[in-house]
Amino acid sequence: MGDERARLTAATARFEAATMQPMNPQNPHPGALIVIEGIDGSGSTTQSDMLLRWLLRVDIPAMFTSEPSKGPIGATLRLHLGRRLELGGPQAEALAFAADRMDHVTTEIAPALARGITVVSDRYYLSSLAYQALSCDLGWLREINRFALRPDLTVFLAVPVDVGVARFSSRATRERFEEDRDELARIARMYDAAIARLREDGEPVHVIDGTRTPAEVHGEIVRLAAGILEPRYPSVAMPVDADEPSPAIPTVPTA
Ligand code: TYD
Repeated sequence: MGDERARLTAATARFEAATMQPMNPQNPHPGALIVIEGIDGSGSTTQSDMLLRWLLRVDIPAMFTSEPSKGPIGATLRLHLGRRLELGGPQAEALAFAADRMDHVTTEIAPALARGITVVSDRYYLSSLAYQALSCDLGWLREINRFALRPDLTVFLAVPVDVGVARFSSRATRERFEEDRDELARIARMYDAAIARLREDGEPVHVIDGTRTPAEVHGEIVRLAAGILEPRYPSVAMPVDADEPSPAIPTVPTA
């Protein structure tokens, strides 16, 4: 009887220790992880690209990545998003996104950060906490993403749902989640709820107005990024004027 009680007490202590751990491990590496988020059509890909160019221009080693990743689970998710493959229900979908994320962190993100490379990711776990929260419990979604490294900065591009719909409606093909205005409105509400929860836990998530010109939005992202990068790259001069020309994209020389 006494043994049983001791076993239960030890198990409870282990459980408490486990649940008191922070949800996501802090990034222990020299490189910074910066995430750009938003509903479909918010401009996250454009802004990730502009941020990457700025980083390279100010001589910060940087790389771009996105989720779903280019890895094997990400490839499966792309087929699922394009409705060419059906995963068995919302929990399987959420677990696949979480599995893709761990694969992405382990094979691409963490090795780059460890080499001092700043990683810009177009979407990360906040996307799961919004899109998969349409059908799954937020607490469970956080749990299955608990081992993903916590970003040093997440920027959420806030745009009205109609702006998002107008932007993706002009594309040739539509993916899952690019269904209709109501669904996007629900996703936007899920983002608000998830951002509030992450902030309560001290995560650096910034919501910025994504309806301005791309250059204006970029300027604000650069100021936020410079704030977290300056301590990491003290030798780098970081002009935060976004109007400077982007680094040249290699061009084919004309004869
Ligand atoms: P998107 O980022 O718009 O990429 P593309 O421009 O290549 O279409 O598409 C990714 C879609 O996947 C988007 O609708 C959001 C969804 N998604 C999730 O549902 N959960 C996630 O965890 C992630 C990363 C994306």
